Formats: sequence, structure tokens, C-alpha cells
Amino acid sequence: MQQPFCVFFCFTARLAQRTCMARKSATIRHCHNLESCHDSPKQPIGDQSEHDGIFPSPLCNCPVEKRMDEDLERAAAGDHRLVTVFGGTGFLGRRVVRHLLDHRFQVRAASRHPNPIGPGVGPGARPEPVTADIHDETSVAAALSGAYGAVNAVSLYVERGRETFDSVHVKAAAGLARLARERGVKRLIHLSGIGADPNSSAPYIAARGRGEVAVREAFPGATIIRPAVMFGPDDAFLTTLVRLVRTLPVYPMFGRGQTKLQPVCVEDVAEAIARVLEDSGGGSSPCYEFAGRRVYTYQDLVRSVADRIKARPRLVAVPFALWRILAMGAELLPSVPITRNQVALMQCDNVASSDHPGLESLHIAPKELEELLSAM
Ligand SMILES: NC(=O)c1ccc[n+]([C@@H]2O[C@H](COP(=O)([O-])OP(=O)(O)OC[C@H]3O[C@@H](n4cnc5c(N)ncnc54)[C@H](OP(=O)(O)O)[C@@H]3O)[C@@H](O)[C@H]2O)c1
Repeated sequence: MQQPFCVFFCFTARLAQRTCMARKSATIRHCHNLESCHDSPKQPIGDQSEHDGIFPSPLCNCPVEKRMDEDLERAAAGDHRLVTVFGGTGFLGRRVVRHLLDHRFQVRAASRHPNPIGPGVGPGARPEPVTADIHDETSVAAALSGAYGAVNAVSLYVERGRETFDSVHVKAAAGLARLARERGVKRLIHLSGIGADPNSSAPYIAARGRGEVAVREAFPGATIIRPAVMFGPDDAFLTTLVRLVRTLPVYPMFGRGQTKLQPVCVEDVAEAIARVLEDSGGGSSPCYEFAGRRVYTYQDLVRSVADRIKARPRLVAVPFALWRILAMGAELLPSVPITRNQVALMQCDNVASSDHPGLESLHIAPKELEELLSAM
């Protein structure tokens, strides 16, 4: 359990001690924001070195004293703001966990193989690791017990056995949503993706679209989050692109490389999810699309990467039909380098529409992909 909240629960029983304890606690609980916080001691509570290099943890709002009072009010109201993050050990999920902790939520990180120690989390605030399989109602219900909010960041990129796009992104997602509603969870965030469309001929994209509909039916107030392709220091997208551009003299593009992409920083998406959950007034949008600042064609992106790392591969167009055949073979390998659903995604523009609010609506300035490239 997140330490400050344990302290605050005790306060509710001893209201007479509240002010005194809050001041004492404020002296030991410092602000993460070393750059802009002028009201608290310049010392982090967590180990900042554990954060991801150039993408630091979000910076908190000051002053600390005001936030302490808000915590006390929440604690007095019995609102401990526990959020369960399903897929809490994944590429996005573990960042969501960290950003929620930074926003002083209490967090459960649920997955089939939970991490005993929160990844990239300082010593003062750790998630509770929980074993849960979203196909298993009992474990999902247990993980949701007492939660104020839930985030479904479970992914499936390659179908294997009973793990199909339909079973994970539609049936299990709807089951999780139903259990969340039945158990009184107030906020549900469902991760989908830009371009999700139940009428798509691509099985992955169609399942994402049907999943959105099914989740909405099971939990009418759910918030759907559709990120564009995400980049981060340990991603499967940009790091692969950099490695290939660096090593290949001839670079095979998806088609003629004209598909439009708007990559978004994984840290920005995680922070946005924490901010959406922070809005307890229920005034948030039913759907957000989170994308980066710049729209690239795939060809532009490859050239940009090549320029940054001073590589000069020759770009050649490879038809999508050939990519699909290659991906079909690749999916049989133990470590899958490319999947058919990735190929299908690369055939459709992956750009935020103007129909849904984005990062700016949550006052987040999207980080540039070039920032990460410079650090590679
Ligand atoms: N990555 C992107 O660029 C991108 C772009 C747009 C949308 N999205 C969406 O964002 C979400 C998160 O994606 P990601 O890339 O962060 O995924 P990821 O890195 O593959 O992580 C998936 C997480 O889900 C857990 N998981 C998988 N199967 C599970 C199951 N049956 N029950 C419980 N937990 C399970 C995994 O842990 P265990 O294996 O230990 O269970 C892991 O924690 C997904 O909905 C994805 O479609 C991603």
C-alpha cells in the first residue's frame, strides 16, 4: 500500500491529530518536481534514476501542503483511490502504474506474471503486485476488490490457442468491464487504438472496434483510450526501426511508405491516463485519441531516423501482399519479428481524428520522437 495513504487512514480515526500529523508528514514527503517546485525541499522521494532516461516522471503540482490537505479530505471521506491496472507490467501498463503513483493513487498492478517490485518506482510508493488472468473471472474480481478505478492495458498482438483477438479484446475486456460495474468500480479506462473499427476486414482492428462497443455496453461510463503507435526507450517500434536502418544497406518499406503515422510518447499516454482518472467530476470525454505532435509518412519517418543516426540505407517499396506472407511465416517463430496485424495496421493511416480530444485537452505537450532518437 502506498505509504502516505496508510498514514492518512489512521488520521480519520483521530481527527484531532490531523493538522499536526499532516505537517509532520509534509516534512518527510517531498516533491518529485525538482525543476519547478519552489515550495518543497529539493529532494525526491523516489529514485529518479529508475525513471526512463530522457522521459522523466511527470512533474507534480505544488504546493505540497495544499495537496496534503486534499489527501486528508479524501482519506476522511474514505476515498483511498485504489486503481487496478490490468497489464500493469507491460510497456504502457507499467508506466501507467508509475504515473498513477506519482498522482498519489494507490495502485494494484495485475498480470499473469506479476513483478514483485514495482518497475521504475521509488521506495516510497509501490504498486501491489497481483496475479490475474483476464480470462479468469475469479482472479479479475479479486483484483478489482475495493478499487475506485480500473485500467485495462492487456494486449494481444499474436493469436495463439485460446488467446485470440476476440477472446482477449472483446470477450475478456467485456467481462472485466461487467465485473468492474458489478463491484462498484467508479472509473474504467479501456485501452484500444486509433483506427479501431468493428467493420474492418482486418481481424485485429475489427476486434478492437467490437471490444470498444462491448466494453461500453458492460460499463456505460467507461473511458476509451486510443493511442497512436507508441514510442519509448524499450519499445518494439522505434528501436526496431533504428536497428534495421543502422544495419541494413537496403531498407524494405511497407508498400511505398505512404501510410501516415503520428507516433506518441508512451510516457505522455501514461500521464494522460492518470489525468483522466484524476478527474473525479465525471466530466471527462468518453473517448480520447492520443497522438504525437507530428504526422509522418512511413517513408518520412524512416528518412528522419536515418538522418538522425547518420545512416544511408536505400529505401525500397515492398508490396503489402508480400509482407503478409512474410508475417504469416514469422508468426510461427518463438520470438515474432512481425505479425499480420502489424502489417494490417501499417496499411491504414494511424492519425488522430478531430472527433475526440487528445493530449492537449489534458494540458500535455506531446514529446517529440526526435528527443528519444537523440538519446539512442
Ligand atoms: N504498444 C503500442 O504502440 C500500442 C499502440 C496503440 C494501442 N496499444 C494498446 O495499449 C495496450 C497496452 O499495450 P502494450 O504494448 O503496453 O502491451 P504489452 O507490453 O504487450 O503488455 C501487455 C500486458 O498485458 C499482460 N497480459 C497479457 N495477457 C494477459 C492476460 N490474459 N491476463 C492478464 N494480463 C495479461 C502482460 O503481462 P503477462 O504476460 O504477465 O500477463 C502485460 O503486462 C493494449 O491494449 C494495446 O493494444 C498499444
